[in-house]
Amino acid sequence: MHARPILTIPLYILLNLSYASSQLILTLSWNSLKQDIYRFSYMATFIKLFVNTLFIMSLLASANNAQLINNFYGKTCPSLQTIVRNTMTNAIKTEARIGASILRLFFHDCFVNGCDASILLDDTVTFVGEKNAAPNKNSARGFEVIDTIKTSVEAACNATVSCADILALAARDGVFLLGGPTWVVPLGRRDARTASQSAANSQIPSPFSDLSTLTTMFSNKGLTINDLTVLSGAHTIGQGECQFFRTRIYNETNIDTSFATLRKSNCPVSGGDTNLAPLDTLTPTTFDNNYYKDLIASKGLFHSDQVLFNNGTQDNLVRTYSTNGAKFSSDFAVAMVKLSKISPLTGTNGEIRKNCRLVN
Ligand code: HEM
Repeated sequence: MHARPILTIPLYILLNLSYASSQLILTLSWNSLKQDIYRFSYMATFIKLFVNTLFIMSLLASANNAQLINNFYGKTCPSLQTIVRNTMTNAIKTEARIGASILRLFFHDCFVNGCDASILLDDTVTFVGEKNAAPNKNSARGFEVIDTIKTSVEAACNATVSCADILALAARDGVFLLGGPTWVVPLGRRDARTASQSAANSQIPSPFSDLSTLTTMFSNKGLTINDLTVLSGAHTIGQGECQFFRTRIYNETNIDTSFATLRKSNCPVSGGDTNLAPLDTLTPTTFDNNYYKDLIASKGLFHSDQVLFNNGTQDNLVRTYSTNGAKFSSDFAVAMVKLSKISPLTGTNGEIRKNCRLVN
């Protein structure tokens, strides 16, 4: 009988103590929960602010550098792409090489202050353009085809489509019509009101360049060394002049001997500077992966071609493209879109030229 209160009192104390401590724990954890919630909501507000700031910054950035849009002329010039395709089809029927020449024009346009049709401007008494810069003089070609396209486009949709966009579409179609891949060209570029002969001289790579120089020049345009390797695959079509490969065939050692002999037959030690040789030994009017097979066989025409396969970092990619034509095609298409996005003039910058050869 007496034992009960004796036992009950400590039990009661114990129970109360545990209740009190549980209350304490509850209170403590509630407080820390409140702190956590407070911290969490503070962080959430901060994250929200941060995300909003990023969003506003990206809006501002895109207002300064408005995005190119795939269907830019969908309403304003619905016949544009058909006009370009038809004119390019006719031009290539007349001369297959013209597809290559227009692809090169586009590359030379984009590498000099962006894809803004600056290369198409003629020199005048008061204006020095890019056509007579060293990499273009007597070798850039295809201007008449762009003029023909522009005339038809102006007839269909007056003062609407830029020469820069026409050149981007014509280059794409040239590749496709010679058997290469196709891609959607983002549009909305506007035309430059100026050109820069000095920039054309310094920013377009030379065929005598080493891999490190080419890599730097491409990286200056936001393109990687792999972009360099895949875009150089454009040399699967077209022709090159003796003056650009003479030192390679006479002085270099990483060259197939019978190939060098063959090329020497139409490229003497002196004279014959403008004599032509195909950039691709077998299929210079077909857009395929034979260029890479040539490199592996030490039959690259220019020094700047062979450096891509010369015991360097690009050897593996060259091997891949030489055996996997489908990968070359799809990587080329992606890289062309990247090339086509170099510093375009958009929005209210530049103009829509009436005549691709002249500023309005
Ligand atoms: C990597 C640096 C490059 C160098 C050093 C280079 C240099 C050259 C040279 C010297 C020619 C011969 C021009 C002539 O003799 O008239 C040529 C032709 C050509 N290039 Fe390149 N090129 C490079 C990259 C590219 C790129 C990225 C493209 C296009 C995406 C391209 C497309 C072409 C085409 C298609 C031709 C043949 C043009 C024709 O037959 O009219 N090249 N290149």
